[in-house]
Amino acid sequence: MSYALEDEFGDIIGKARRGQHLSLAQTATAAGIPEPQLSRMEQYTLKPTEAQVYQLAEVLNLDGTKLLDIATERWAPNPAQPSANAALDVVTISAPVGGWPVNAYLLICKATDEAAIVDTAAHPNLILEQLDARKVQPTAILLTHAHSDHADGLPQLQQATGSPTYLHKNEPKPRSGQQLKTVDHGDVLTVGELMVTVVDTPGHTPGGCSFLTQTAAFVGDAIFAGSIGGPNISYDDEIHSVRDNLLSLVDDVRLFPGHGPATTVGEEKAHNPFF
Ligand SMILES: [Fe+2]
Repeated sequence: MSYALEDEFGDIIGKARRGQHLSLAQTATAAGIPEPQLSRMEQYTLKPTEAQVYQLAEVLNLDGTKLLDIATERWAPNPAQPSANAALDVVTISAPVGGWPVNAYLLICKATDEAAIVDTAAHPNLILEQLDARKVQPTAILLTHAHSDHADGLPQLQQATGSPTYLHKNEPKPRSGQQLKTVDHGDVLTVGELMVTVVDTPGHTPGGCSFLTQTAAFVGDAIFAGSIGGPNISYDDEIHSVRDNLLSLVDDVRLFPGHGPATTVGEEKAHNPFF
């Protein structure tokens, strides 16, 4: 698979279909596509025609033009570059967890060289190496959600850094070596001189949240470039919270997801078929 996005056409229609509680048969009938063909599309073994892309978009309440760009692999996000005088640095640490690449991040306050670790699974040793290499002091661990491919490694990083861990109050608790500090929508944390605001982005998990500071947001599995995280809990909550709490931000806010490439609010508004 050479396409840079986390999700392909088959993933997108599968997530939209299951999120809206439509069976394969219902979707195939409504879109006028034989069910075996739709099944193969979801498994990436059959490419849709342009007409089929638009038919499926209509049935699944997706944007047809944006969906076609992804089905034909015509779009990849062009993430805004941080301005040279930005007060923050972001370091991406990408590693396979359970066979699939996952992103962890360091959010660094340039004024104080203090850092937050965002998600801990990919991989504790790599995260500790980066903290060392950049000579930054970790002061907080932020968890976007508690899935093991994001929160594994937490006890090791807690022990190595002594940093407190913040997690949304509605999220199931991951394995932890210390008492977790729970946060809620609108809470503000500090990392050095950076103010980090918690925003609710549930739907993939009950208490999924994003961490927003200046022109960067760490979004976990709420939204990916061109797609969304699997809507395991509530498709409506995921779509509405992402739309209201992330895509309402200014276009050049950079979005750092738990999987796949970084993107921006502007890129997602223009190209994500779910919105
Ligand atoms: Fe997840």
